Amino acid sequence: MVAAMAVEAKQSAKLLLPSGKEVSLPVVVGTEDEHAVDIKSLRADSGYITLDSGFMNTGSTASAITYLDGEQGILRYRGYSIEELAEKSDFVETSFLLINGHLPSQEERKKFSTMLTRHSLIHEDMHHFFLGYPPTSHPMAVLSSMVASMSAYYPDSLDRNSAVDMHITRILSKVRTIAAFAYKKSIGQPIMYPKNSLRYCANFLHMMFAVPSEEYEVSPVLEKAVNQLLILHADHEQNCSTSTVRMVGSSGANLYASIAAGILALWGPLHGGANQAVIEMLEDVKNNRGGDGKKFIDDVKNKRDNQRLMGFGHRVYKNFDPRAKILKKMCDEVLEHLGIKDPLLDIAKSMEEVALKDDYFISKKLYPNVDFYSGIIYRALGIPTNMFTVMFALGRLPGWIAHWKEMVDDPQTKIGRPRQVYTGEKLRTYVPIEQR
Ligand code: ACO
Repeated sequence: MVAAMAVEAKQSAKLLLPSGKEVSLPVVVGTEDEHAVDIKSLRADSGYITLDSGFMNTGSTASAITYLDGEQGILRYRGYSIEELAEKSDFVETSFLLINGHLPSQEERKKFSTMLTRHSLIHEDMHHFFLGYPPTSHPMAVLSSMVASMSAYYPDSLDRNSAVDMHITRILSKVRTIAAFAYKKSIGQPIMYPKNSLRYCANFLHMMFAVPSEEYEVSPVLEKAVNQLLILHADHEQNCSTSTVRMVGSSGANLYASIAAGILALWGPLHGGANQAVIEMLEDVKNNRGGDGKKFIDDVKNKRDNQRLMGFGHRVYKNFDPRAKILKKMCDEVLEHLGIKDPLLDIAKSMEEVALKDDYFISKKLYPNVDFYSGIIYRALGIPTNMFTVMFALGRLPGWIAHWKEMVDDPQTKIGRPRQVYTGEKLRTYVPIEQR
């Protein structure tokens, strides 16, 4: 087990309040020399709280899982660079790394893979759930509620000390099955059961694209592409959905409930839902603006209808997103291999070129993020647009699990409960309705 190390304060900072009172606050330093002022005792010592809408500067926890430097464009899982993992690892190994803190030995790897294979089926009764959803259901709605329902099928998960590793294996394996079943349901095809002879990503592709009446052979190129895509999405420290998982889990909620909440947080278009929004934006440019991305960018700059260039900008990356760099290259390679010419790729490239030279985007430090090119690859792989965010959820799963586990194992964890600055009415006297 690798828990977040308690950070020891070696220095302090002084805060001078309007009253003239000086408060001393400990300064903690992370392994990559990140400095933080620890404000745990601030309110007790001074009566003040801090205000940081959107948590732009607020560290919610110490964590030993992922290191991210937004200025330098660095992303590392447990110390390994994202570039190296995307090239040399696969999704199952990277999941093990994130959750357990080290690369698996051959024996650990074999055991982990066997467990994932063994737990790929969902409870047969859960199949009925799929029949209850209307055909137009967004698969993220189906995925989140199915994951929450798993706690009903594995009630021992309500005791967070019971069989944690088993629940982790179950969720990691079954979410893949649920995602594929949700897709099959949405297109009215019979579900395909998992095939134990296939590796994790190949099995997913089989459940997505095989049909009972035909032979389906998983292309190694597609399998590799899915592995890489999932690795690139596997963790991103304290983003919106991961913070949600930790926040929900901090109340004592079980793994399934916490991950279901994370899936819902991911769905929004400013977060994981951006990959779907990018394709919809590119399609709009192609179908309604004669493929002229420049005109769309002008609208974005003028904030017409509050439009944003989807797939651009990031709260943390202010130089480049290393995942976007890998994905852009991968996009060219996958499309070339499959012999696909996608007009949306040309539009995306031209819009990127225009935006990167434009003062609006330069001054606001807006660069392509992980979602700008991922959707074009998913399209080439045959994955429909409304499944893109589901793919993101599948990739982010080991990260959410690792953070949930780290939070549960950390003796310093407290229930997440921010404060606020109240701006409403002062005390008023109740007026009976007939006198109003
Ligand atoms: N297009 C145009 N303008 C933008 C964009 C964009 N994509 N992103 C930010 N801006 C502008 C804002 O309008 C704002 O301008 P202002 O100062 O004139 O008001 C300024 O840049 C700062 O934007 P904020 O929203 O305050 O930045 P924040 O760090 O809160 O938001 C976010 C980051 C949500 C990712 C934002 O850049 C965005 O909406 N991008 C588009 C959606 C997207 O691609 N999301 C995926 C992010 S990656 C991920 O979650 C997996």
